[in-house]
Amino acid sequence: QTIYRKEYTPPGFMVETVELGFDLDPQRTIVASRLTMTRNPESKGRAIELHGENIILVALRMNGKTLSKRDYRLDDKMLVIPNAPDEVTLEIETLTAPVKNTTLNGLYVSNGNFFTQCEAEGFRNITYFPDRPDVMAKYTVMLRADKATYPVLLSNGNLIEEGDLGDGRHFAKWEDPFKKPSYLFALVAARLVCQEETFKLADGRSALLQVWVEEGNLDKTDYAMQSLKNSIRWDEERFGLELDLDRFMIVAVGDFNMGAMENKGLNIFNTKFVLANPRVATDIDYAGIEAVVGHEYFHNWTGNRITCRDWFQLSLKEGLTVFRDQEFSADMIGTESGRAVTRIDQVRTLRQAQFPEDAGPMAHPVRPDSFVEINNFYTVTVYEKGAEVVRMYQTLLGRERFRKGMDLYFERHDGQAVTCDDFRAAMADAGERDLSQFERWYSQAGTPVVHAEGRYDADALTYELTLTQRCPATPGQEHKLPFHIPVAVGLLGADGRDLHLNVDGLDAVTAVLELTDASRTFRFSGVKEAPTPSILRDFSAPVVLEYDYTDAELLHLFSHDSDPVNRWEAGQRLAMARLLKLTSAVAAGDTLELDTTFIEALRKILADESLDSAFREQALLLPSESMIADQMEVVNPQAIHQARQFVRRTIGEALRVDLRAQYDANQTPGAYSPDALSAGRRGLKNLALAYLASTSSEEGIALAQAQFDNAGNMTDRVAALGALIHAGAASAQAALQAFYADFDNEALVIDKWFAMQAAAPATDVAAVRELMRHAAFNIKNPNRARSLVFTFCVGNASQFHASDGSGYAFWAEQVIALDALNPQVASRLARSMDRWRRYAPALQAHMKKALQKVAGVKKLSNDVREVVSKALAN
Ligand code: ARG
Ligand code: ZN
Repeated sequence: QTIYRKEYTPPGFMVETVELGFDLDPQRTIVASRLTMTRNPESKGRAIELHGENIILVALRMNGKTLSKRDYRLDDKMLVIPNAPDEVTLEIETLTAPVKNTTLNGLYVSNGNFFTQCEAEGFRNITYFPDRPDVMAKYTVMLRADKATYPVLLSNGNLIEEGDLGDGRHFAKWEDPFKKPSYLFALVAARLVCQEETFKLADGRSALLQVWVEEGNLDKTDYAMQSLKNSIRWDEERFGLELDLDRFMIVAVGDFNMGAMENKGLNIFNTKFVLANPRVATDIDYAGIEAVVGHEYFHNWTGNRITCRDWFQLSLKEGLTVFRDQEFSADMIGTESGRAVTRIDQVRTLRQAQFPEDAGPMAHPVRPDSFVEINNFYTVTVYEKGAEVVRMYQTLLGRERFRKGMDLYFERHDGQAVTCDDFRAAMADAGERDLSQFERWYSQAGTPVVHAEGRYDADALTYELTLTQRCPATPGQEHKLPFHIPVAVGLLGADGRDLHLNVDGLDAVTAVLELTDASRTFRFSGVKEAPTPSILRDFSAPVVLEYDYTDAELLHLFSHDSDPVNRWEAGQRLAMARLLKLTSAVAAGDTLELDTTFIEALRKILADESLDSAFREQALLLPSESMIADQMEVVNPQAIHQARQFVRRTIGEALRVDLRAQYDANQTPGAYSPDALSAGRRGLKNLALAYLASTSSEEGIALAQAQFDNAGNMTDRVAALGALIHAGAASAQAALQAFYADFDNEALVIDKWFAMQAAAPATDVAAVRELMRHAAFNIKNPNRARSLVFTFCVGNASQFHASDGSGYAFWAEQVIALDALNPQVASRLARSMDRWRRYAPALQAHMKKALQKVAGVKKLSNDVREVVSKALAN
């Protein structure tokens, strides 16, 4: 059933303190809870409402008196106690079986250890509680467990007591000095070891930092620890925010639904975002660790100290915290050009994942109006588009005023559960700006389109830019009102330099135009020549920009734009136009041709050593198959694949000498370091390798084989293996076997091994089924399921969309099998069919059948039910 944002009502009772006692046993864990509660003065007559699911109520006392069945109502979701006095102490005993919990939500067992995941609504699987984020309380937690099996007992906050219980069991008592919502509760009872360090905070205090992992992984914790220290420093310096605890822990777990979780003082992470050393982790893995460690740490202020009033406000903490982790990663690189590359990556993610979401059946505003299952709304829209919304405040207000707005937000709301409106009000007040129209970024779904037209008047020396906005309809939102859109614009002269613009009486090269109406014309004066406009610099708003650029203009921007994002963008536009034409040509059976103008432009960028390697890699990377698909009326996955392969091969042949030169010039001899400069060199070198191997030339394959044999780090090793696989090299199978043998003890590397095969163009449904029978495959492990099943369904379009519909039948089977184990993971997989209406009728028919098959399952979770029914309805 659907829950609506408008129906928010404050809680009837507040909880002051929570004392939890856990007797941990995989089969039978007893949870004793003691809550002190007070009636919310505005809620006279309301009952106490406690959530609880999949737990057994053993005992219930109110103010010392055992309640009988007549004193409360209990169903499979709620425990309701009517007629409660205004001050209440509740004592509740419940029973759970963590080892049987395959959902990885609530209290569960992974590799013999206990972990929790409570966001969004997992706490109700542990004990009866008003499990909603606007109920904030102080927690004390007593953990008891067998000492030999679970030597480490952790929970939020500070350790205040520990000792033996005499019977082979031991205990630890933890106290969190800060009040928090239940979704931030966590415990760990496990056989783990840690890397630890005492770290000096800006105010002179010290904190104990720990990274907890399984014993064999202690050689993979350095980077997470370093990233944690960098995060603490950065938040002190950039936002004046300090660590408020004496102890901060990160714990890695191999079975985890998401990336990581910001539980107060006890962050729990997917191993993927903790474990790294050069042997097993790639540059991308290292960057992911830095970003996610930062993200979870930054939540301590944006999420924990100030949390969300209700789950519709999720982006209040997630959009803001993604923005903060993006800025952290950019600042860690430190150079302007490095920063731009991170920005390009963000734009790519938006186009690759968020724009399609905004255009599909699950489209929702950054602040949704309704949902069936909140876990379905941890989306790229809430996270990444939400981060763009925060970034736009900074663009509109300027960095200084934005910081003032942040300060004001903390000053006003520390310790509270608030809304996106409260954040916007802080920005408006600190920035002294009217941001009421800006609210539409939170309430209207869909990606706005900004259409731009320029007109130069050589007599008046004026340049007029007319910007017109529209936004396509989305489910439940037929008509949209104009957004408040910051459009950063520069004008390039014929020599490629920026023309000077008079912006608010100041000399500048970039002007931030504010489009608030449906359409508006902006006039630049004193423009001495007909310019080439560079519009939406630094991707100043999450919109689609339409401008009828000529090839000559795009080539000009690609060669000269001082804004690296738009320089890259010009290259993407040149590439996209060609890819779309070639896709049609493939479908029509015409001969394929790629113009030398485009190739020469790429050659120039590739060889331009004044540019960072990382930027050149981005510039040489073609739009993905799914990005091409998004531009088509009717998607033809096989034609797209062939067209893109043709372009890759043609570039590989035409630029052979240049690619080889860059391959040699961008080697990184010596000890591996994940720093951005080295990673950028490896990135360009390995892209060059991919192009060279794509031709299946002897040289390319020999180069890949040699790199595979001699690689000193995982980045180079997987790049070489990927090149061999994609080239269809005869030696690819042997390489895969060798790779497996070398890393069969490293779960995260075996995930890569599965993923590379799942994505290979030669891997069809039958081959995926075969891989699923491999001894190392385990569908219960989310990382493993994602590496094989998701990668195939999402990342191997030409095979997944096989004309006989076998890919879709496979999808349905897997969604159904996963749903019985883990609805959250199943629901993510279900999303891969979102855009089924964009395919040819014959494929659509197969897809519809698969969707209906899933929808027809009687015991389907809310999670999957919501996704497939929205797909079928829209
Ligand atoms: N708050 C976590 C993070 O973004 C994600 C938790 C997701 N949980 C969920 N049930 N979907 O850092
Ligand atoms: Zn988050």
